[in-house]
Amino acid sequence: MRTMIKDIKDGASGTPWHETVKDDFPIFGAAMNNRPVVYLDSASSAQKPRAVIAAMSGAMEHYYANIHRGLYAFSQQMTAEFEAVRGKLAAFINAASDKEIIFTRNTTEAINLVVNSWGRANLKVGDEIILTAMEHHANIVPWQILQKELGFAIRVIPVLDDGWLDLAALPNLLCERTKMLAFVHVSNVLGTVNPAAQMIRTVKAFNPAIMTLVDASQSAVHGTLDVQALGCDFLCMTGHKLYGPTGAGVLYGRYDVLDKMPPWMGGGDMIVSVDFAGTTFQDPPHRFEAGTPSFIDVIGLGAAIDYMTGIGMDAVKAREDGVFTLLSAALADFDGITVMGTTAGKAPVLSFTADWAHASDLNMILDQCGVCVRTGKHCAEPLMKRFGVEASIRASLGLYNDENDVDRFAEAMRKARKMLA
Ligand SMILES: Cc1ncc(COP(=O)(O)O)c(C=O)c1O
Repeated sequence: MRTMIKDIKDGASGTPWHETVKDDFPIFGAAMNNRPVVYLDSASSAQKPRAVIAAMSGAMEHYYANIHRGLYAFSQQMTAEFEAVRGKLAAFINAASDKEIIFTRNTTEAINLVVNSWGRANLKVGDEIILTAMEHHANIVPWQILQKELGFAIRVIPVLDDGWLDLAALPNLLCERTKMLAFVHVSNVLGTVNPAAQMIRTVKAFNPAIMTLVDASQSAVHGTLDVQALGCDFLCMTGHKLYGPTGAGVLYGRYDVLDKMPPWMGGGDMIVSVDFAGTTFQDPPHRFEAGTPSFIDVIGLGAAIDYMTGIGMDAVKAREDGVFTLLSAALADFDGITVMGTTAGKAPVLSFTADWAHASDLNMILDQCGVCVRTGKHCAEPLMKRFGVEASIRASLGLYNDENDVDRFAEAMRKARKMLA
């Protein structure tokens, strides 16, 4: 008898799942290459529920005006809605205060903010920071740009063959010059869920002054996050992977840390007073939000958070775990497949290569069958080099994926096998 998601899911959490979730996403009414679309690329960017689209167009149609400026009802309503999203995000990750939530464009900008504000003020020649070998380029390149200027060293925690971090290496990398541990919570290639709280505890036990930054771009979407339980100083998320629009990301920073950080970008809205003799800056978070923010996108992100928490993050996780078990089993039916990252409890990200086809040829057949996957280096070139893989296919899940998507993926793979092997 075929295993169904509901068997797995009900066993995992007992949380009922409403099977109409897909109807909340207008994109699934669209066809791709004349086939109903099967979207297996949510690790890149998630599709948008109707509630998000409606919140954004509603704000633009009914009370559009700039925030923090106007002394009239539209502007005040828009400001109130924008600021309310800060509170929603603080609750979403259990921040102690909504003053710890800074809006950015995306994770990339959030990390650049930390690098250019905290990093520039605190790092010097001889200092060291620690990254991992499974970082997205967003958590490598900004540090390297500043490194060129300031001359600190970058140390790297290696990755083992199964995709688990070589955590035994971490204590050996720590020294009195270590200033920061910045690492990805869930790898966008391997799906490995790093033991973030344990890593932070190790570092803080060595020296509580070492800062910690968690890149939660992939983890925020698949389960509950609690920054206070993690004990991190910074955490970043990108709204477009959280079913929100592009253009709205989040940097969480512990308030006492943010309070000591200089501004990164200057301009309107982040100042108390400006004079040619000198300027005074606002307190966090506004000190770090220069210029008109992407407030319509932030309102969309707020609707996305409401949508996800309405379903419940535990239910989302149980559902995705169930579909992921089916997807992994479907892929295991094919010969000549190598999966990158085989640790237990992975996030629903399945990167693989086939010894009978080049990744881009395989991708082309999947595309013709209406199946969206990602192919390439996934903005994690050092990790791909570590595994000696030129390009992999990545199928990743969102809360809308179901058994039918797994069947369509398997059918497309069988077609590709026939044509390419
Ligand atoms: C782990 C991780 N970090 C950072 C990013 C960068 O996100 P964005 O391009 O939205 O800034 C991504 C996006 O794929 C990611 O998966």
